[in-house]
Order: sequence, then structure tokens, then C-alpha cells
Amino acid sequence: MATEKEYVLGTHDAELERLGLQHDVWRPRASHTWRRAGFSVGQTLLDVGCGPGYAALDLAGIVGPSGRVVAIDRSRRFLDALESLARARGLAQIEAHELDLDVDPLPEVRADGAWSRWVYAFVTRPQALLGNVAATLRAGGTMACHEYVDYRAWRLSPRSAAFEEFVAEVMASWRANGGEPDIALDLPRWLESLGFEVQVTRAISEVARPGDFVWQWPKAFVATGLQRLVDLGRVDAARARAMQQAFDDVERTPGAFMLTPTVLEIVARKR
Ligand SMILES: C[S@@+](CC[C@H](N)C(=O)[O-])C[C@H]1O[C@@H](n2cnc3c(N)ncnc32)[C@H](O)[C@@H]1O
Repeated sequence: MATEKEYVLGTHDAELERLGLQHDVWRPRASHTWRRAGFSVGQTLLDVGCGPGYAALDLAGIVGPSGRVVAIDRSRRFLDALESLARARGLAQIEAHELDLDVDPLPEVRADGAWSRWVYAFVTRPQALLGNVAATLRAGGTMACHEYVDYRAWRLSPRSAAFEEFVAEVMASWRANGGEPDIALDLPRWLESLGFEVQVTRAISEVARPGDFVWQWPKAFVATGLQRLVDLGRVDAARARAMQQAFDDVERTPGAFMLTPTVLEIVARKR
């Protein structure tokens, strides 16, 4: 069984909290994608790589008590958080499975839909995982996901060389752990080869300014991400402080803005 420390972004409390904030920022876009995917009441939906399950909890609201949300992650800590929230909210339709998506078979379900967000970027065999997810879907079932398609698009104005070095280090750290940040460049093609009709491919990038709520999402990632790069030994503490300072300086600059890393929304129907 995988250990907690293997996941490149970590599973500590700060990351759990960051994922919650991230979901709050992304909830409207996720809801939009779920509508496009036709996720609805009474269905069986997978949340593949669910993390602490913030999306799974929302999906449980969509399928209702007559449906089922099968939430899968390899982090016991994240699944514990999901299970306690599901209990507190009386959402018996959520079931959590502790599985390593790189090696373990998926639960035997016949699903109407599968959702993933920022997961294919981290697994070492994304095409094999996609095939496994496809196999759980019934004909006419839908796969929907949000994955990065251009992570380097994450830029600051005014330009910051230290920040761009941070972005490059983050990408390198994911690749060093067997992942691929821009995995959405491959997913639509793989889906077609698995017999899916790719119905939606839409790039999502935002222009965020320091006062915007959206700014809070990348801001939180810089704080936890820098600490993670230090913990992984990729950046020393002094360099991390300089990178944080560069970000803080931009945040305080009148007229500053940020382009967020580009995500690809994908919705595909199994023929
Ligand atoms: C960036 S988080 C996204 C979590 C969630 N999908 C969300 O949108 O909040 C990536 C998740 O993928 C999980 N993950 C990464 N590699 C995995 C693997 N091989 N098997 C299972 N889960 C994995 C991590 O534990 C983490 O919860």
C-alpha cells in the first residue's frame, strides 16, 4: 500500500485546507462541467482521485440518496476527512475506497459518470488509468475532468523571474515523481482511441487581481507549494523566501494581475 509521503503535494493539514479553498474557487466551473456531462439524480458517479472529497460531497447532492458516489484516493488522511464530513452531513450515498490508481483495480461498478480533477497529472500511468475508468462506464456514460493543459501559462504582471522559476520547479517536481503537469494535451486523443466521443474541450484561464477571490487559490498554492519544494529538497529555504517575497511584492503593486495556469475542461461520452 502506498505511503502518505509519496504524493508530491503532500497530504498534511495545510494541503487539506488548501484543497478546500481551491474547491470553493472552482466549484462554479465544476458545477458547469457536471451539468454539461449530464450528471443527475439517481446516478452512480466516480470521483477518481477525490482527495478530501470536496467535489464528492457536491456530487452526492446531485445524485441524491437514490444515487451513489464512489470516491477513490490513496490517501487515508484525505479519505478520513471525507468520511467524517459525509457522516456529519448524513450522506450515506458516498463510499470511500483507499486505492492506488497506479496499480490497484478500480471497484467493480457500472457507472453513469466519472469525474476527476488534477489527478491524471500525478499518476504514473495516466493512459492505463483512463482505460480502467472507461471500463467502469456504461455505454452512454460520461467522463468529465479538469486537468492542466498549459501550466507555464501561470504568469504575473509585473513579470517576475523568481516566480517563473517557482512555476518551473513545481512542474519539474511533478515530473520527477512520474507525473506530467500538462496531461490534458493527451487526454482527448486517448479518449477517442478508447471509443469516446469528445464533446467538450474548453480552455479555462482567468485574469485574477489581488483583491479577487480567485487570487486566493494560486496564492495559497504558492505558500504550501514553496514549503513542499523545500521539504522535497528542490529549493533551499533562502530561495523559497525570495520566491515568496517576489510574489508578495507583485501582490502589493498597483495594477498587478495574474494569469492562472490553463486548465482544460473535458467532457466525453462513451459510445
Ligand atoms: C491535486 S489533488 C486533487 C484532489 C481532488 N480531485 C480535488 O480536486 O480537490 C490530487 C489527488 O490525487 C491523489 N493521487 C495522486 N496519485 C494517486 C494515486 N496513484 N492513487 C490514488 N490517488 C492518487 C492524491 O492523493 C490527491 O488527493
